[in-house]
Amino acid sequence: MVVTLEVSAKETVAEGVVTLTLTHPAGARLPDWTPGSHIELVLPEGTIRHYSLCGNRWDAYTYRIAVLREPLGRGGSSYVHDALRVGDRVGVGGPRNHFPLVPSEKYLFIAGGIGITPLLPKVRQAELLGADWQLLYGGRTRASMAFAEELAAAHGERVRIAPQDECGLLDLVSWLGTPRPDTKVYCCGPAPLLAAVEAACAHWPPYTLRTERFTAADRSAPVRDTPFEVELRRTGRTVTVTPEVSVLDAVRRVGAEVLSSCEQGTCGTCLTPVLQGRPDHRDSILADHERAANTCMFLCVSRSCDDRLVLDL
Ligand code: FES
Repeated sequence: MVVTLEVSAKETVAEGVVTLTLTHPAGARLPDWTPGSHIELVLPEGTIRHYSLCGNRWDAYTYRIAVLREPLGRGGSSYVHDALRVGDRVGVGGPRNHFPLVPSEKYLFIAGGIGITPLLPKVRQAELLGADWQLLYGGRTRASMAFAEELAAAHGERVRIAPQDECGLLDLVSWLGTPRPDTKVYCCGPAPLLAAVEAACAHWPPYTLRTERFTAADRSAPVRDTPFEVELRRTGRTVTVTPEVSVLDAVRRVGAEVLSSCEQGTCGTCLTPVLQGRPDHRDSILADHERAANTCMFLCVSRSCDDRLVLDL
């Protein structure tokens, strides 16, 4: 469901980063959210962009997001930076959370640039829960790193701010070289950082690392290059999915109403329960153990390992 919210504040918080505070025009409560949630901003002409909520989850009346200007992007961030004004109204979908904080005694948060946004509420939550946590925060320059000063001032030793022009690349060997079975690692940032952290955590216990991506991970070729069948259990229809068509398009052709947004396997909007069969998971959201469970899939990018999949549609 998309609701219309008002931009009640807009603030520059770092070089190239503005925050928006969004409130209901009538002062109503907003849907609850948990650390790691994102919302969908519906911009003019129906453009949809996803932004992590980075405000106070206990404030039921405002959402806060931070938007990095991306000169090579598709125009969403430029619109937010240059055109959106305090008092304007925007459509907002969500919140959704595919990057939740799971219980742990210890956390290591690793942020690259604007990847700090989904980690901010996790830091607050970890602090509130009395967990032992550390944050390693890298960025191009100190001036470009949103919230860096306040994090360092509020949490001292727990926070390591490491601008690349002062410290070089993040020293992942020191931070991740020795596996710590009692620690969960959360990482958000550009693709090279995620790849480096994934490689550094390869010898850590399974399910230790959770990541969130802004862009889709590189995908290898699908498991099969032949058609497969998808049964829509609730409507009783079956559709054949050929290699050049996504499952999402195929099920829509036979009348299934499935919402989508990114269509790259990064936002989670098209999540659909799987009743039977093994999906060929090609999204950038699920953790390995969630893939192995085969209980859900993202129809925009994922396909099938088997001749037949049965979906709860
Ligand atoms: Fe975004 Fe499928 S539409 S994950």
